[in-house]
Amino acid sequence: MRWLPNLSLTGKRVLLRVDFNVPLKENGDIADGFRIAAVLPTMWHILSAGAKLVVLSHLGDPEGKFQEKLTMRKVGERLSEYLDSRIIRALNCVGSEAEALAGEMKEGEVLLLENVRFHKEEEEDNEGFSKALARLGDLYVSDAFGVLHREHASVVGVPRFLPSAGGFLLKKEIEGLQKLLEDPKHPMVAIIGGRKIESKLPVIDRIAELADEVLLGNLLAREITSKSISLRHKDKIVFPPDGVPPGKEYDIGLKTTKLFSKKVRKARTVFWSGPLGRYEEEKYAQGSRAVAKAIGKETSYAVAGGGNLLDFLGRHGLREKFDHISTGGSSMLAFLAGEELPGLKALGYYD
Ligand code: 3PG
Repeated sequence: MRWLPNLSLTGKRVLLRVDFNVPLKENGDIADGFRIAAVLPTMWHILSAGAKLVVLSHLGDPEGKFQEKLTMRKVGERLSEYLDSRIIRALNCVGSEAEALAGEMKEGEVLLLENVRFHKEEEEDNEGFSKALARLGDLYVSDAFGVLHREHASVVGVPRFLPSAGGFLLKKEIEGLQKLLEDPKHPMVAIIGGRKIESKLPVIDRIAELADEVLLGNLLAREITSKSISLRHKDKIVFPPDGVPPGKEYDIGLKTTKLFSKKVRKARTVFWSGPLGRYEEEKYAQGSRAVAKAIGKETSYAVAGGGNLLDFLGRHGLREKFDHISTGGSSMLAFLAGEELPGLKALGYYD
């Protein structure tokens, strides 16, 4: 697999796939810009090498249709602030306008394409759509760690048509997570919360092989119980002891908070994906906050990941508790579970 420093960039148009799927507030403002800031080293490298930077991302899940609230407008404003430079915005991610804008770019300029998930062809890994995206660059670089578990056109399709490489964020993510896999200190505790349960359920068994205990958030616990899903390492799975009565799933209860905090306090390795409650409302952030605060002197390596968890940690000034903050949620879990990530495969990582 090639990495960014192996590419000769001068004068080239670099199509950079990022994961700018940032949490949004009710009014559409960006709640947390961590995923944008995380890609800046790659961007600066590309721009200072005299290349033209074409940025492509998804935002939310618009199911193949245009949605005003999921346009890249606010993301563009934030990116422009971080880069301290003007950003050109295309109103689509493929087609004549995007091609014309990409064709006119000068070295050092940044073009931000519109949300790639406004096209259903993205999730279908449609070949024609991948080719249309590939026309906007001479090279393809991926820093979209958070979406590497998806077999989508902009993740696996485009690198079939352009010379490709991984960016600095991808490298940092892989190294940060590999440390968990290689020689983790025990006891090792995994916390799996959040809302995207469909991508978390399949990896619980594998995560349980890695960790000594897996602490489950309410939604995941309820899904497993209500559907009687059988888990291979039942002895390692810790369900919230308060139970999860319907309507009470917005935060973990008091007993759960105490139990999870105790386990985390003693853990030498911690990794965490997904908050344990609807943290956007202060009253439901208490469980997650207590558990994060419990990470202490005993813990020698702690990793957290996922857009919402990052937002939560940022709001409460708790990011410094972690040695590696991953921009991936489900992709982080899949990587740790030893799954082959389609997006990494497409870059030649497993060759
Ligand atoms: C994430 O937020 O985990 C990534 O951006 C992937 O989003 P998705 O689950 O909608 O594919």
